Amino acid sequence: MTAAGVTDSLLAEGLSRIAEEIDSAFDALLPVPNDARARLVEAMRYAAIGGGKRLRPLLLVSVAEMYGVQRSAAIRAGIAIEAIHVYSLIHDDLPCMDNDALRHGKPTVHVAFDEATAVLAGDSLHAFAFEVLADPATSADPFTRVELLQTLGHASGAQGMAGGQMMDMVAETAEFDLQTVTRLQQLKTGALLGAAVEMGAILGRIPPEGRTHLRGYARDIGLAFQIADDLIDHEGDAIRAGKAVGKDAEAGKQTFVSLLGPDRARDQARMLLEQAVGHLGQHGREADLLRALARYIIERDH
Ligand code: IPE
Ligand code: IPE
Ligand code: MG
Ligand code: MG
Ligand code: MG
Repeated sequence: MTAAGVTDSLLAEGLSRIAEEIDSAFDALLPVPNDARARLVEAMRYAAIGGGKRLRPLLLVSVAEMYGVQRSAAIRAGIAIEAIHVYSLIHDDLPCMDNDALRHGKPTVHVAFDEATAVLAGDSLHAFAFEVLADPATSADPFTRVELLQTLGHASGAQGMAGGQMMDMVAETAEFDLQTVTRLQQLKTGALLGAAVEMGAILGRIPPEGRTHLRGYARDIGLAFQIADDLIDHEGDAIRAGKAVGKDAEAGKQTFVSLLGPDRARDQARMLLEQAVGHLGQHGREADLLRALARYIIERDH
């Protein structure tokens, strides 16, 4: 097999393995109660099981694996970050936000259930994430658990994803320049992708000063990821994407694509990919999956 072929199969195996592991962990950790809360947990399971590329858990597990972390611990942290991501998508699709009816190729949670259930399913997945991290099964070391909690909390709230979502709403009516849109995207998407990488290193007990290159990698793939998402919205296929496209322009949202045009946006994503891979220079073959993931993030069509 060629070097590219080996990397492709590494990525394909990584994606399918993590998908199975995340599905079965959600299945085990979210049993449906035999009472009036059943509908809530059914909605959580509907959103969490069987959809999505699982990029955040795969990033986390790939970094953790580089540093010899036990896979079961990394999967638990991966479940936590994916729960935040799934919650963010449930709320992002609500009528008060993007008002979308399709996610992962099936009706969104508020369409399949109802709005109140969708809000509560998001709330519950949000809380569930921190509960999973705080459990000693994730790490026997309380300092590690606290650092995981703090990192995910920071990346999820006003200083991270939710803050970015607020800016994204404002971007429908405000005139943002490229610097502000970059900041918006770093918060909306980059923060959680960055937390995934960081949490892998925390589990690996790498001190903050040893994570600088990983932060550089995460920052570049975070921006490249959002450019790819904006390109999918601009020119992608709804069936392939599993979600509606053309929504950003319809809402008058400022994105990298609206500001730069698709060609320059694509060039920018390629440049970021090269830069991201450059940050991994100190690693050998053990970082091949992270290199392949960076490429996948910008070349994907869903
Ligand atoms: C989509 O994220 C939403 C954004 C953060 C832009 P993903 O592309 O990672 O979502 P999945 O794979 O459908 O879960
Ligand atoms: C959603 O961004 C990002 C978060 C949920 C944090 P988008 O609104 O661009 O995501 P899609 O395009 O609906 O997946
Ligand atoms: Mg949105
Ligand atoms: Mg959306
Ligand atoms: Mg989008």
